[in-house]
Amino acid sequence: PVVGQDLPHESAQLHVTGAALYTDDLVLRTHGTLHAHPVQAPHAHARVTGLRTAPALEVPGVVRVLTASDVTGVNDAGVKHDEPLFPDEVMFFGHSVAWVLGETLEAARLGAAAVEVDYEPLPSIVTVREAIDAESFQGAQPHLERGDVETAFDGAAHVFSGEFEFAGQEHFYLETHCALALVDENGQVFVQSSTQHPSETQEIVAHVLGVPSHEVTVQCLRMGGGFGGKEMQPHGLAAIAAIGARLTGRPVRLRLTRTQDLTMSGKRHGFHSRWRVAFDDDGRLLALDATLTADGGWSLDLSEPVLARALCHIDNAYWIPNVRVNGRIARTNKTSQTAFRGFGGPQGMLVIEDVLGRCAPLLGLDPADLRRRNFYTDGQTTPYGQPVRHPERITAAWDAVVASGELERRREEVARYNAEHPDTKRAIGITPVKFGISFNLTAFNQAGALVHVYKDGSVLINHGGTEMGQGLHTKMLQVAATALGVPLSTVRLAPTRTDKVPNTSATAASSGADLNGGAVKNACEQITDRLRAVAAGRLGVHPNDVRFEDGVVHAIGGTGEQVPWAQLVHQAYFQRVQLWAAGFYRTEGLHWDSSRMQGSPFKYFAYGVAATEVEVDGFTGAYRTRRVDIVHDVGDSLSPLVDIGQIEGGFVQGAGWLTLEDLRWDESDRASRGRLATQAASTYKLPSFSEMPEEFNVSLLEQAHEDGVVYGSKAVGEPPLMLAFSVREALRQAAAAFGPAGTSVDLASPATPEAVFWAVEEARAAG
Ligand code: MTE
Ligand code: MOS
Repeated sequence: PVVGQDLPHESAQLHVTGAALYTDDLVLRTHGTLHAHPVQAPHAHARVTGLRTAPALEVPGVVRVLTASDVTGVNDAGVKHDEPLFPDEVMFFGHSVAWVLGETLEAARLGAAAVEVDYEPLPSIVTVREAIDAESFQGAQPHLERGDVETAFDGAAHVFSGEFEFAGQEHFYLETHCALALVDENGQVFVQSSTQHPSETQEIVAHVLGVPSHEVTVQCLRMGGGFGGKEMQPHGLAAIAAIGARLTGRPVRLRLTRTQDLTMSGKRHGFHSRWRVAFDDDGRLLALDATLTADGGWSLDLSEPVLARALCHIDNAYWIPNVRVNGRIARTNKTSQTAFRGFGGPQGMLVIEDVLGRCAPLLGLDPADLRRRNFYTDGQTTPYGQPVRHPERITAAWDAVVASGELERRREEVARYNAEHPDTKRAIGITPVKFGISFNLTAFNQAGALVHVYKDGSVLINHGGTEMGQGLHTKMLQVAATALGVPLSTVRLAPTRTDKVPNTSATAASSGADLNGGAVKNACEQITDRLRAVAAGRLGVHPNDVRFEDGVVHAIGGTGEQVPWAQLVHQAYFQRVQLWAAGFYRTEGLHWDSSRMQGSPFKYFAYGVAATEVEVDGFTGAYRTRRVDIVHDVGDSLSPLVDIGQIEGGFVQGAGWLTLEDLRWDESDRASRGRLATQAASTYKLPSFSEMPEEFNVSLLEQAHEDGVVYGSKAVGEPPLMLAFSVREALRQAAAAFGPAGTSVDLASPATPEAVFWAVEEARAAG
């Protein structure tokens, strides 16, 4: 079958030759396009007391200034109705208060500079600690509890506690936010948007314009990366472009520059956590009591579901009999933090991995032993009550990494190296991942597809998912070719559009292939069921015996006659058999009670294990990643090369979050308070070739068929990001190796060279 084949990404050649079209490339194909530029406020928090647009209109080439009075529907870009599109209260440094349309981008930029705005500065909250002190919270405060936490603490052999604050992360997709809106002669609005969630972009554009959804169509060709950053944030920008197009009758293009994107769009949530943990004499986890505070920024956005996923992943791969976790969302004067690969899962898991990394030496245990002895085993359930199916895959992946990574031998080498080198130290960290697949909110776990078979036998598929580089379209082509029994070349894929497949969920939660694959397969099977009857008549067999394989149709137990696919299709057309189908899929067996934080919200768990060896320089804290070994569970892979790419990319992105990428806001009391200081690639350090592991081995867990998912496959998009905990734990262990045996060190996150240096100093001081 075509699924399971090693294929390059469907657009790989276009990507690397620069021929692939992104939203902004379409500007070259539209005429008379206007360009939009924001007027960004220079205050973290302020009231807008005056706004004069007249000076901008005097700038040559400026066509129009958009303000709140141009909104014909609702002046709000969020799903929570807390995100005014044109605010009268500035909520973060860089908040856009108006937009200028110009004949050229330069005209729009000069126009924006000419707009006069009066601000009355207000007191601001910039850090999560300030928010906690001021009790500045927003949204729900979920509570997850199991067992008898207090009794478990009372009787425990070992109790530890701590506090841990860790940073968020900028998405830094290569393609910044972009929308291009057009209006036709009937007022029908068409928006090309770089969006992971075309249906929601459509809904928000419609409600901002005050029109029904059928007056707005959103299309997404592909994105130059989304990583969660284009799940919510494109909507308001698309709405601005649509307002402009409706007012002027001309196409409007809105593309953020990198600095605008960095200063205006939401990021991964940083968190503050306070925790208490209990172990028995053997190092088995008895109880965890934690409070997680997510730094939500100025509006709710996706903070509530992100926090819910954090709470649902604080166990990672470990059985914790007694658990109490409280969650809350800080409201701060920063960008509105949003989805980012893992969607809160990484933040929850980082807390428990940090706890284990810190406590292992205090328990006199090797961190690898401490982790392994706390893995889930058969029959156990998560703190929210979901049975953990196939926990043996965690140990299987772990043992596979230990074997293929030759960990036993290399640990001895590391010990020898460290004994001989006082100024550099090495360590190998090994950590597991268990990640729940499905949207927590059950209703989102549905998808649609539209499959057309033309009279000549060629096939065109549409589905509700978007392509952001993750290879979803490649997988959908493979699913369709397999389900129809035709070669890959018979199938083509059309861009994602809301007028083809309506009411879609975001391409998110790693579930794109599970959901849309289910829908594409369903549509294809409707078609083959109809064709089966035609073929049965022609071949003189029972319909159940008809097979579709590799472009020919034949029957088992028949005469051996074979009918080419195209011929059968042609014949079916003349018999007036419907040759297209709308497919639908919904994930069965899910239930979730968000008020009690109980249920089985996930279809299954994805598992993986990574071992990372690092070397740390004791003078500077600088480090390098010497070797990484990963075994990851993707079920029966739909597309192994795509999956390995996702695992490598996810790991590196996770390592960036945990080690290099250091978001800094101005926390001073100066006028620039609240300004994002890291507003360009020059100050925001991303992983690049020099940070790649010197040796990088990735393999897929074998014999991992997953029942009840499309062709036995598992989701892959987000889980590998969390394999990067192994880098952080290796750095902690290497820093600790500068102190006496059994030293426990705290490590800031991101573990920049500076942070590692302070961990080394802490270890030395213990000596
Ligand atoms: N891979 C690439 N190359 N670019 C991306 O933007 N986004 C990630 C992941 N992998 C992303 C990516 C995120 S956050 C998710 S949720 C999934 O892809 C979404 O796609 P899927 O559901 O098809 O896996
Ligand atoms: Mo991914 S964070 O679910 O878009």
